[in-house]
Amino acid sequence: MPDQYAVIGNPIAHSKSPLIHASFARQAGHDLTYVALHAQSHEFEAVVQRFRGQGGRGLNVTLPFKHRAYALAQRCSVRATQAQAVNTLSFSGAEISGDNTDGAGLVRDLQVNLSCAVKGRRVLLMGAGGAAYGVCGPLLDEEPSALVVANRSLDKALALCEHFRSIAPRADRLAAMTYAALRGQRFDLVINATSAGLADAMPPLPAGLFSPGAWAYDMVYGKATPFLEFAQREGAQTADGLGMLVEQAAESFQVWRGVRSQTAPVIELLRRAA
Ligand code: ATR
Repeated sequence: MPDQYAVIGNPIAHSKSPLIHASFARQAGHDLTYVALHAQSHEFEAVVQRFRGQGGRGLNVTLPFKHRAYALAQRCSVRATQAQAVNTLSFSGAEISGDNTDGAGLVRDLQVNLSCAVKGRRVLLMGAGGAAYGVCGPLLDEEPSALVVANRSLDKALALCEHFRSIAPRADRLAAMTYAALRGQRFDLVINATSAGLADAMPPLPAGLFSPGAWAYDMVYGKATPFLEFAQREGAQTADGLGMLVEQAAESFQVWRGVRSQTAPVIELLRRAA
């Protein structure tokens, strides 16, 4: 019987994770299955436990269940605790362990695939919801000279900074701001962790935000978001979140299987299929 894995979320029908993990399994020569599991809001925990009871080895968790997966895990990695969210559950014996590979996926896409260094750079992170929490710790680990968190509601950005100040090294580099306060500031890397792009909207950014050679990164993938169009007009280099999607999956695969996958051919495959 092959080892069983799955991704759980709602909606989940269009998830690319089964295709990505099938590619990684082929590369590694591992015999495993990876399917998509749909769960209604009230049945998330029950679906996880059923999957585990049937011999499941691990689950990727996506929206809207990452916080609930964090609550369900009996043991969490540092990065999951920092994010207060779990996207990778592992089942071994009686224990459910939780990890979060989103931030590592973003950092790897930036540094390895895009050659965009974070160390010593001024970084702007837009948004203070789950997506921003997921990447803030791993970004701080890369030692940016500053990590500014901007959000429409300043309270949420302040709360995010407060949370990381109490648990993450180098959080002295964190600052919370409104979008209006960004006027006159410049950044080497601007990351969109808001959900604005999904609604064809963008945060209210001032012109002149990008340093020469700066990167604009949108965690949304598969569409030209208003933020990336704005960034292109402002002269920045741009990237969508497809690379992060594949890299966070590779990191999960490594957590489960102990093997590092080649991501470039999988990113290429998905780009061609889009
Ligand atoms: P996620 O888990 O995807 O981060 P979330 O917790 O609902 O989702 O957070 C959504 C984030 O996108 C928030 O930071 C939200 O800003 P507010 O807290 O000020 O609402 C941000 N967001 C959504 N639509 C936006 C828009 N049109 N412009 C700017 N920020 C937006």
